Amino acid sequence: MHMEFVMADRLLEMKNISKRFPGVLALGGVSFDLEEGEAHGLLGENGAGKSTLIKILAGDYTKDEGEVIISGEEVEFHSPSDSQDMGISVIYQELNTLDTLSVAENIFVGNLPKRPGLGTVYWKTLNRNAKTVLDRMLVDINPKKIVGDLTVHEKQIIEIAKAIYKDAKILVMDEPTAALGEKDTASLFNIIRSLKLQGVGVIYISHRLKEIFEITDRVTVLRDGRLIGTENTGETEKEKLITMMVGRELKDMYPKREVPIGETLIEVKGLNIKGILEDISFQVRSGEIVGLFGLLGSGRQNIVRALYGIDEFESGEVHIDGKPVIVDTPATALKREMGFMPIDRKLEGLTLTLSVSNNITMANIDNLGTGPLIDRELERKDAQKWVTDVKIKTPSLETDVNSLSGGNQQKIVLAKLLETGSRIFIMNEPTRGIDVGAKVDIYQMMENLCENGAGIIMISSELPEMLAMADRILIVSKGKITAEFGREEATQEKLLHAATI
Ligand SMILES: Nc1ncnc2c1ncn2[C@@H]1O[C@H](COP(=O)(O)OP(=O)(O)OP(=O)(O)O)[C@@H](O)[C@H]1O
Ligand SMILES: [Mg+2]
Repeated sequence: MHMEFVMADRLLEMKNISKRFPGVLALGGVSFDLEEGEAHGLLGENGAGKSTLIKILAGDYTKDEGEVIISGEEVEFHSPSDSQDMGISVIYQELNTLDTLSVAENIFVGNLPKRPGLGTVYWKTLNRNAKTVLDRMLVDINPKKIVGDLTVHEKQIIEIAKAIYKDAKILVMDEPTAALGEKDTASLFNIIRSLKLQGVGVIYISHRLKEIFEITDRVTVLRDGRLIGTENTGETEKEKLITMMVGRELKDMYPKREVPIGETLIEVKGLNIKGILEDISFQVRSGEIVGLFGLLGSGRQNIVRALYGIDEFESGEVHIDGKPVIVDTPATALKREMGFMPIDRKLEGLTLTLSVSNNITMANIDNLGTGPLIDRELERKDAQKWVTDVKIKTPSLETDVNSLSGGNQQKIVLAKLLETGSRIFIMNEPTRGIDVGAKVDIYQMMENLCENGAGIIMISSELPEMLAMADRILIVSKGKITAEFGREEATQEKLLHAATI
């Protein structure tokens, strides 16, 4: 008599998936699988093919080759709804909530419980059902709340709730923590853990290795559209994953250099915006990186927006090179040699339907001529320089930024900022969504700027980055600067403590 082993079918198997775009092999024979109750991380440099793999699973893109097998059966997706019908839900970074509707309406959108005939909504039932779904995730949000009033993380919870109610078996998250602070990230991880216990399989994409180690069971690394390998997270190491990702060893994650500190470039004196900012004063000297650290909503964004002339302030002064200046629009800021990297790149930073080259040179177009006189050759040259320096992976300078990977779009925002040739840089989360190898390049670039006499105001939610790169760190809390730490004295604990009191 022989024993027969019955293996439970895997939740998901993707076998030898290939996908080509004009001029790019986005995926070449990549295999990936997912077990019930598993969190499987997906890692790789910008443009490695992570989002493409997910979009094939979501029915957004059709694969050129390969098989997708769900619970033992091969499937073909022709649209996103085919994928959703098979229990797959994707939470993209750009959330799809309907901000004028309530939490409950958002969760059950398209499927509200209605009275037969009359078509009016059973509000009680709706709110009760929403509460049941939210309880399953162990979160406490009032189903009647209007979604527009929620935080980014709460909106994300609503999106997950939608997936749970549709009984998703496979939940995909593409860089879900990019816009979250430490506390919300911890809350998201608790939700992921509770979903895993309920048998949901989670595919987790993030450039933050710390998170990969904290939340995943296995991790798969892609590079240039190829599968490099899959590791058990508990049995691998950070250095190993980095080497798999970048194809070489990275010696120094934070190439901070000793740069001579010079004259004060910009000084802010007693800036006030009623109810938002109170008595903000600080200065940035040539060669210096000054970090602004605080929780979401602390006022960091308000400070830099006011400085750059985006938001009006009621009282206070700004001095550049020791002279009072009025910077009331971004255009005047630019004339004062200030450069600004917006927090929401998609909305403010890029024109998605324009080419790589047009986007990079946009802010500096005045120096390239006007109208028909724009020196296209010079424009190309400038753009090409940044594509090389910042290592933007694009089929050509004429490619629409729309079709580039998320990280490469971010690099274009940086290139655009550098192209302005400014002296005072406001850098908002400069490495968000950027892979480890490219991060090091960006830090190098920041150090080069400082060496050439620039000053940088940096906002970052990544503590290791803040601690390693800033010369001074100002704590922003409830619209005020409440503490300042020099580079030597700053620690993770001190910053977090100061930011949360
Ligand atoms: N719709 C598209 N049209 C043309 N090329 C595309 C399209 N979508 C993706 N690509 C290309 O396929 C490659 C893989 O991109 P993908 O978005 O999968 O990368 P990624 O691993 O998600 O990177 P990131 O970390 O930067 O988000 C890139 O070279 C990208 O430019
Ligand atoms: Mg991506």
